Amino acid sequence: MTATDLRFPADFVWGTATASYQIEGAVAEGGRGPSIWDTFAATPGTIDDGTTGAVACDHYHRWEQDLDLMQRLGMGAYRFSVAWPRVIPVGTGAVNEAGLDFYDRLVDGLLERGIAPFATLYHWDLPQPLQDAGGWPDRGIVDAFVAYADAVTRRLGDRVAYYATMNEPWCAAFLGYALGEHAPGLREPALAIRAAHHLLLAHGAALEVMRANARTAQHGIVLNLNPAYPASDAPEDVAAARRFDGFFNRWFLDALLKGRYPDDVWEGYGANVPEVQEGDLAIVAQPLDFLGVNYYSRVIVTSDPSVPWPAVRGLPVEGTPTEMGWEVFPQGMTEVLLRLQREYAPPPMYVTENGAAYPDVLRDGTVDDADRIAYLEQHVAAVHAAIEAGADVRGYFAWSLLDNFEWARGFAKRFGLVYVDYATQARIPKRSAGWYASLIERHRNATRGAPA
Ligand code: FCB
Repeated sequence: MTATDLRFPADFVWGTATASYQIEGAVAEGGRGPSIWDTFAATPGTIDDGTTGAVACDHYHRWEQDLDLMQRLGMGAYRFSVAWPRVIPVGTGAVNEAGLDFYDRLVDGLLERGIAPFATLYHWDLPQPLQDAGGWPDRGIVDAFVAYADAVTRRLGDRVAYYATMNEPWCAAFLGYALGEHAPGLREPALAIRAAHHLLLAHGAALEVMRANARTAQHGIVLNLNPAYPASDAPEDVAAARRFDGFFNRWFLDALLKGRYPDDVWEGYGANVPEVQEGDLAIVAQPLDFLGVNYYSRVIVTSDPSVPWPAVRGLPVEGTPTEMGWEVFPQGMTEVLLRLQREYAPPPMYVTENGAAYPDVLRDGTVDDADRIAYLEQHVAAVHAAIEAGADVRGYFAWSLLDNFEWARGFAKRFGLVYVDYATQARIPKRSAGWYASLIERHRNATRGAPA
């Protein structure tokens, strides 16, 4: 049996995901202010191929064509993100109506085509002036985010059925402030840990105003979860995997779904723990309508006391990895979803990102990306297995609709179901796009009772 033959719940949502900085371009148009990614990418040595998102997929100008493409592929939903510096160009203060107009048209365009909008408010493009004022490590950012969330949800309201506050707070905090790999490119663990707290606090604080502005919409957050496996049965390795899990997964899950930070991580952070004020965790742990789960791979770790807490080192992956160097490990998808269901009693879950980069070759007008199809097929089947075993998963979004600016990897890594020829901006559906379209089509027919 292949993923195409599996039966999913009748109202299961199928879509693709993108993010503003990765596709929009037009960074100085429509009143948009600079973001930390504009600054970071323009700094020599930060991006593998020296590129920036200044033009990217030019989606800002080509959005109608991109929506038509989604419609032709039969997509039921589209997860996109709103660029904060388009809406509030300097981060705080005046709202730029022209910036909101863009998303207003995008949302109406989706609805006209029968595609459900899933909007993410923060997918890493922080207005540069807010970083200049301290960025996520500064508690003042919480009010700024609430004002931004207010402006977006006031304008888009219930036309957006699903709002997520943050995309992958672990990445925003640790890749940005501790590992220097993402904007703003700092290497200060204490700042990263404070950023992680403020990302969660801003999420919770925004929910109240979002619910008031969009009463029938569903509100949630998107986490990237990375299961950690010990390199051996040795107690040191088992403990290392537990530490990595605390650092990467439980810090966020426990705060959001249990209202507390895990003791082992708190102890591990030692003097770097963030200032948590009375009532903060109640704000962080407000009820969610859904949880978005991004899953790509797993890590295998061993204990390494020579590096800062969590004092672990990742081992080389098993088998042939994707072009990102990530192991293909579909069982991890099933395990993550079932673990959430078992340990956290989560709200309904959506797989908000899953996909793979491969060295695509355009030949005779198409890309025969059999390896991507195999990856997607196995992961869709892994989601199905989790549902069968009791996980409440309501939808799946492939990352990504289009090849795009893959952060520090630049344009060299292609994740799209649709190939983008950056010289001409032509969109060329890969074979995986056709595969995904037929999966969706068969599912639709099957749940309508037509012969599958
Ligand atoms: C995730 C990001 C997304 C994309 C994929 C490959 O961590 O949310 O923007 O870059 O990885």
